Amino acid sequence: MYLGTTTYEGIKAILEPLGFSLPGPYSLLTRSRHGGTDLERIYAQAGRKWKVLTPMPQTILLLDDEPDNIALMERALHGKLHNVSTVSFVSPRQALAWCDRHEPDLCLIDYRMSEMNGIEFMRQIRQNPRFNGIPMVMITGMPPEELRPEALVSGAIELLNKPVNPDEMVARCRNLLLLRKSLRDQRQQASGFDEEINCALQGIAVREHEGVIERLVQFSETRDEETGGHMRRMAYLSELIAREIGAHREFCEMLLLAAPMHDIGKIGIPDRILLKRGSLTTAEREIMKTHAAIGYDVLKGSESELLGLGADIAHSHHEKFDGLGYPRGLKGESIPLAGRIVAVADVFDALVNERPYKNAWCPGDAFDLIRRERGKHFDPECVDAMLKRIGEVMDIETEFSDKPAPEGGLSPRTLNRRVS
Ligand SMILES: [Fe+2]
Ligand SMILES: [Fe+2]
Repeated sequence: MYLGTTTYEGIKAILEPLGFSLPGPYSLLTRSRHGGTDLERIYAQAGRKWKVLTPMPQTILLLDDEPDNIALMERALHGKLHNVSTVSFVSPRQALAWCDRHEPDLCLIDYRMSEMNGIEFMRQIRQNPRFNGIPMVMITGMPPEELRPEALVSGAIELLNKPVNPDEMVARCRNLLLLRKSLRDQRQQASGFDEEINCALQGIAVREHEGVIERLVQFSETRDEETGGHMRRMAYLSELIAREIGAHREFCEMLLLAAPMHDIGKIGIPDRILLKRGSLTTAEREIMKTHAAIGYDVLKGSESELLGLGADIAHSHHEKFDGLGYPRGLKGESIPLAGRIVAVADVFDALVNERPYKNAWCPGDAFDLIRRERGKHFDPECVDAMLKRIGEVMDIETEFSDKPAPEGGLSPRTLNRRVS
């Protein structure tokens, strides 16, 4: 479904009257969550409602090898039934060919025709399961008792006698089209329900994954100065960079969930080093560096693709593009892509936010450092991607800020939780 607009205000004007509450423009258009952007999720929900809200046009197929009879039926039906059109054939074979690609809502079929009679036509058309729920009426000049059993067995739901009474024909068509519509609505509701169940199951799977990861991350947070806000910001920044460099959608979505695992190895660092105020000695710094390998050991070997990606990130987020990083001194593209992306996001967010041992840098200075380290610490492609999306980088920083809410107002984070 396409709403005919791509502006946030335009989408809001269409969807809000239909009962959809929209999050802020940034999260609506760019953030990936639970298997798609919020906009895609809203589109899917709106699409399901749309089917119910928009009356589907209906088509009556008229088949009679006498053009005069066709003209009579068309005249009788013209303008009598709302949102209904007719398609007429004097040849059963042409009608069958049309039915290969189309689906009428009702068929009025003459019995006596030269190419094939109406019963043979119905038999052929009923072989296609698509036509199971389509009512068919047989029109005949024969006494009804002679034809009725055979016609009903072949799939006719009613018989109309010639000469056809126009009012009776319109009344029967109206009833049968209503029947057809209610059958189709039921089928659509059933398939919509299946879709809802599938969405819900996918949602549960994603939430379970997220729950496990959130616990792991919370556990590591209790032993580190890094906040939950940092985890969220660096995860969204990583996803933003991944999308900008054209990474596959599934990879971007997994990266969002896996990036917060980057420092999970810090659970293995002694408190006297991890929580030390002031600078570390060389020996202590070497111990601190082991968090990358510890994180990898904790997460590796799982069947979960997500934990596998987490393991790669934990292992490689301190590697440097010029080969001067740790723990393995990998260089260039031998560093996993996820590690190269997370490195930029992690450092940028650490710079522009306050830590117990440092003040927050102003964003301009942080962007300058990222630019200066292009091709040294950081993958040039990842740097360029971040610098191309400076506006959205700052939106993420604001939305998930650790700063308390202004007096009487909601913090961006609280606001986000309320709308999601
Ligand atoms: Fe780290
Ligand atoms: Fe970090």
